[in-house]
Amino acid sequence: MRILVIGGGGREHAIAWRLSLEGHEVFAAPGNPGIARVGQVLATSDFMAAAESVRPDLTVVGPEVPLAAGIADQFRAKGLLIFGPSREQARLEASKIHAKEFMRRTGIPTARFVRAESADAALDALQQFDYPVVVKADGLAAGKGVIIAQDRAQAEDAISTLGPALVIEEFLQGEEVSFIVISDGTNVIPFEATQDHKSVFDGGAGPNTGGMGAYCDGRILTPQDTQRILDTIIQPAVASTGFTGFLYAGLMMTADGPKVIEFNVRLGDPETQPLMHRLEGGFGDALYRSAHGNLKDVTLRWKTEPSVCVVLAAAGYPGQIRTGDAITGIEAAESTPGVHVFHAGTKAGPQGLETAGGRVLGVTASGPDLATAVLNAYKAVECIHFDGMHYRRDIAQQGLKRWRS
Ligand code: AMP
Ligand code: GLY
Repeated sequence: MRILVIGGGGREHAIAWRLSLEGHEVFAAPGNPGIARVGQVLATSDFMAAAESVRPDLTVVGPEVPLAAGIADQFRAKGLLIFGPSREQARLEASKIHAKEFMRRTGIPTARFVRAESADAALDALQQFDYPVVVKADGLAAGKGVIIAQDRAQAEDAISTLGPALVIEEFLQGEEVSFIVISDGTNVIPFEATQDHKSVFDGGAGPNTGGMGAYCDGRILTPQDTQRILDTIIQPAVASTGFTGFLYAGLMMTADGPKVIEFNVRLGDPETQPLMHRLEGGFGDALYRSAHGNLKDVTLRWKTEPSVCVVLAAAGYPGQIRTGDAITGIEAAESTPGVHVFHAGTKAGPQGLETAGGRVLGVTASGPDLATAVLNAYKAVECIHFDGMHYRRDIAQQGLKRWRS
């Protein structure tokens, strides 16, 4: 198939890499220098023009912004086959207020919440919660619209920074899990569960980011947990919206069972990198069949080895970032067995590859067991250099501790 991938980050590089391994002809807009190694890059953000010039058999959308702007509706109106939710379905991610009210209406387990449309209403709402309390901006915020406030003063700050349209919600305790499915509107295929690492520093310190690393291991969820998530969260969400595309439930595995922290209407970044690394086949076919509403009896093939992705971030991330630093060592990193380096924020400069975004590279590795996968990833990280580079050193440590392997 000719497949057009929309986006230009690490997630899209991983998708393009996987599809090209399966023998598809891959195009990407706007793409990045990593994607250019596995497909043809159209350096444009006019996605319709890109599709009209490529005439793909299928378009796959990576990021939430074009989905929230209605790219799937626009493509379908022109008779182009696209895998992704409609603008209306994308509101599950684009508006936290909409998502929380949707969950309340459909009985999907989530944190207790109050919506507030003004600072005064938000301050009032605080009285109904203990600390820590969670304050969330209503709209899209690239993973940075959430503040966990430890006391009233921090909550007041959060309200003035993130407001006026807010969700105030109860703080949930437990293991955080990213659970993603492919949905054709009725049928779903779950991906293996993954765990992301949101905070910028080791041990969960520092502000939230888009995600500093992720891993995929068959032990993250038991088969019973998976079934419960499908029954109480995924199936009700799909049945009441007819959702097509990737549906991502960010979950907290609480003592009362799985609860939704957020819905995303796309694959996670960086979760996609270890997922694509671990997939063995059937991805392009599943997307094509799903876009046709025909996912029944389709299966994805998985390798048994766990996989892990360590994000290398630019100076200043997740705050004001610096760009234009020279990147070296990717080839050496990729000579480590089982390692692939996905480009997230890079560009080809006059002197070679340079940094061009907050998350720069996703060093992704697998191994016969999780400990070896982690070792391989960090061995590869040591080969790479750019000024200001920083990364977490504890990706997958929670899993390693839990399973002692
Ligand atoms: P979100 O953008 O909604 O995924 O929130 C970003 C991160 O904040 C999540 O991945 C969690 O680590 C944390 N978080 C959000 N909501 C809650 C909650 N209700 N309880 C505990 N942690 C939360
Ligand atoms: N890694 C979390 C996200 O993609 O939203």
